[in-house]
Amino acid sequence: MKKQTILFIGAGRMAESIISGLVKSPNIEDIYVSNHRNREKLMNLENKYGIRPSFSWSSDAEKADMILLAMPPEAHPEFLKELKPVLTGQFVVTIAAGIGPSFLEEHLGQDVPAAWIMPNTASEIGESMSLVAYGQAALEHHKLMLKDVLDAIGESEVCTEEQVHQLTAITGSAPAFLYAFAESLIEQAETYGISHEHAVKLVSQMMAGSSAMLKLKKAPKELREQVTTPGGATAEGINVLVQGGYSRLIKEAVIATNRKALGKWQENQ
Ligand SMILES: NC(=O)c1ccc[n+]([C@@H]2O[C@H](COP(=O)([O-])OP(=O)(O)OC[C@H]3O[C@@H](n4cnc5c(N)ncnc54)[C@H](OP(=O)(O)O)[C@@H]3O)[C@@H](O)[C@H]2O)c1
Repeated sequence: MKKQTILFIGAGRMAESIISGLVKSPNIEDIYVSNHRNREKLMNLENKYGIRPSFSWSSDAEKADMILLAMPPEAHPEFLKELKPVLTGQFVVTIAAGIGPSFLEEHLGQDVPAAWIMPNTASEIGESMSLVAYGQAALEHHKLMLKDVLDAIGESEVCTEEQVHQLTAITGSAPAFLYAFAESLIEQAETYGISHEHAVKLVSQMMAGSSAMLKLKKAPKELREQVTTPGGATAEGINVLVQGGYSRLIKEAVIATNRKALGKWQENQ
């Protein structure tokens, strides 16, 4: 595969997570990075990763194979108006919440190869579970190009645009549900007289170990049953969760997240 040049529009947390992994890829020729007004941030990224700061994105766009939009969703409509006349076949990818490939196509044209990726905050440590949806004009070589970006931040799954809208609640928001679960366990552990640091260590390693077991492709039901002797102590704890509507609450939390995200997306239209 020919080495790729990528132009980032936006140099925030997400862009930096991707860049930090991408600079290790042998398939990247150059990375240009532009943002709104914070030039110091671009210089920092240049010192840290050897990227090329872009102070005129529209002239650097012509050198790019891929233009990666890592800026807020609400900045997209204005920016896409400026981008449209500059495009000469570049693959346009956004990581913005709610901005699917059909939105890009509507603003840039159906023939523009486009994609939407939805990473989560674990991309910071190369452990994201990212979702990706392609537009109609994205071809196999575009998908290979984007794989480098996705591999730089963790694992990924190709979905339809509608599925990305729905599943972002699970891959993007549910980490917050898990952290809330961890907070409760930490608070309870502290009541048994250990320090906050010790409680955090106990809970985070317990969660990391459990997640590693799940990743070994064991069924969660089987894993749960391994820990839960019928009539035993763990079963008593599980009972409290069941009585409180644990499973229903989690599903409702996903549905509420999606409802809110849809409302915000409609507001931005
Ligand atoms: N953070 C996450 O966990 C996460 C997860 C999935 C998706 N996302 C999406 O990723 C995108 C970026 O998020 P982030 O957390 O990296 O945000 P961030 O840290 O606030 O960075 C936003 C960047 O966008 C730039 N920007 C803002 N308006 C712009 C414009 N009109 N033209 C060019 N650049 C502009 C900012 O430049 P200045 O600093 O110069 O203003 C900044 O570099 C968002 O669309 C978000 O929905 C984030």
